[in-house]
Amino acid sequence: MRAIRCHAYTGPNDLRLEEVRDPVPGPGQILIAVEACGLGFVDGLHVKGKYQVKIPLPFTPGSEAAGRVIALGEGAPADLMGKRVAGFVMGGGLAEKALMMANACAVVPDDFDPTAAAAALINYGTAIYGFEDCGALKAGETVLVLGASGGVGMAAIDVAHGMGATVIAAASSDDKRQAALTRGAHKAIDYTQDDWRKALTEALEGKGLDVVYDPVSGAWSEAAFRSLAPGGRHLVIGFASGEIAKLPLNLALLKRASLVGVDWGGHVRAHVNDGPRITRRLMELAAAGKIDPRADSVHTLAEAPEVIAAMLARKMIGKPVIKPQA
Ligand SMILES: NC(=O)c1ccc[n+]([C@@H]2O[C@H](COP(=O)([O-])OP(=O)(O)OC[C@H]3O[C@@H](n4cnc5c(N)ncnc54)[C@H](OP(=O)(O)O)[C@@H]3O)[C@@H](O)[C@H]2O)c1
Repeated sequence: MRAIRCHAYTGPNDLRLEEVRDPVPGPGQILIAVEACGLGFVDGLHVKGKYQVKIPLPFTPGSEAAGRVIALGEGAPADLMGKRVAGFVMGGGLAEKALMMANACAVVPDDFDPTAAAAALINYGTAIYGFEDCGALKAGETVLVLGASGGVGMAAIDVAHGMGATVIAAASSDDKRQAALTRGAHKAIDYTQDDWRKALTEALEGKGLDVVYDPVSGAWSEAAFRSLAPGGRHLVIGFASGEIAKLPLNLALLKRASLVGVDWGGHVRAHVNDGPRITRRLMELAAAGKIDPRADSVHTLAEAPEVIAAMLARKMIGKPVIKPQA
């Protein structure tokens, strides 16, 4: 089968499209024919060896995929054979075939687009877990999404909007702010300006800021935390700026606000059954028309390295998905 291979932690330009042996499912595993694999900033970190967990070399990147089950390992439920599933991938989704743990995948209804399923798995999983389980977001509250036009940010806009919140999107260019507005943000601000907190205050129109969704960090984090209303929650999602913010803890006391870490991947590793639960919740919300998961761009396997490079260079808008069979 064809697969993208990473032989050194030197970044996306050194990734290679190669012929490799088909993986063989072990106990409890399933083999899928990958229909779609979502890409995120984290894949760039993996191929640079900069993520908190280093994948041993050589490896195939790509951590979230959807596809048909084509083989079962010992003990994997027989009724999964032929079903379309989505889940975290073991050993890489940027390939024509990939392994998953049978107990960690969710069955995707046949009428649910596999491209949307792969696009949604991590980012919508993070947003649903983040807003519902960690942030206790309520209808009528106001959310600020930093890095709003990225894959994580766009999913956050859609989920917060679907939960009845007012969403303010922060992004660096007109194109990115327009994409965030099109996705459902009520207002968009340019957070690259020195006085962006003034723009945020104006956008709030006298309302309090209840939740910050922060996949960017850096100098933006403290400024956003300072803008929270009493009882506010700042959800720490990621560090796309490359800088881990430090927060003076007196702010949490003075603001009566909370800093909440949201690690979807870590949560699912610790609570395996919760992955499929949130994926089912995602399907429910989509079926009810409350959210609209989708890929913002679709690419071939050979294009994957340049897509990862574009994400690292801050040039992508939204969520890219690779279709390995195309
Ligand atoms: N906690 C979790 O469970 C979880 C789950 C998934 C992802 N994440 C993390 O969330 C973060 C975002 O992931 P993503 O897939 O949404 O990435 P993405 O699509 O590349 O979006 C990241 C956004 O961050 C902004 N940004 C600011 N400074 C940047 C810089 N120096 N380089 C690149 N982007 C920069 C960009 O928007 P502007 O140009 O508008 O500033 C960009 O749109 C990553 O750190 C990822 O590891 C966490």
